[in-house]
Amino acid sequence: ATTTRYEAETSPAVCAGTIDSDWTGYSGSGFCNGTNATSGYAQFTVNAATAGTATLNVRFANGTTTARPASLVVNGTAVQTPSFEGTGAWTTWVTKTLTVSLNAGSNTVRLTPTAAAGLPNVDYLEA
Ligand code: GCU
Repeated sequence: ATTTRYEAETSPAVCAGTIDSDWTGYSGSGFCNGTNATSGYAQFTVNAATAGTATLNVRFANGTTTARPASLVVNGTAVQTPSFEGTGAWTTWVTKTLTVSLNAGSNTVRLTPTAAAGLPNVDYLEA
């Protein structure tokens, strides 16, 4: 199946924070630096050709030594709790693979941080 890259800085994606470009290595024109709070989400609109299991690859950087936990919310339902480990530097981007069930057509995929530190910096989601 075709893989589509959804940049976190490009509408219809929503970054509850700032779009930054001060750490190198990102794709596109920047990345989502979510607010350092549980309100600092990153949201993507993911199109699926068919309903069913889909592989999501989220590219992120976490330059701290503390993992940043999140809730993965698909079409309004929390489906799993990925944790974004420290990657060693804010310029070191890592891809995390998440397996979810999507509807055919448009899906809303949100990463909502569950701790006060917020999300890692989020570069893109591929599906
Ligand atoms: C630093 C870094 C940001 C990052 C932030 C964080 O300020 O420059 O890119 O988002 O830490 O802790 O989330």
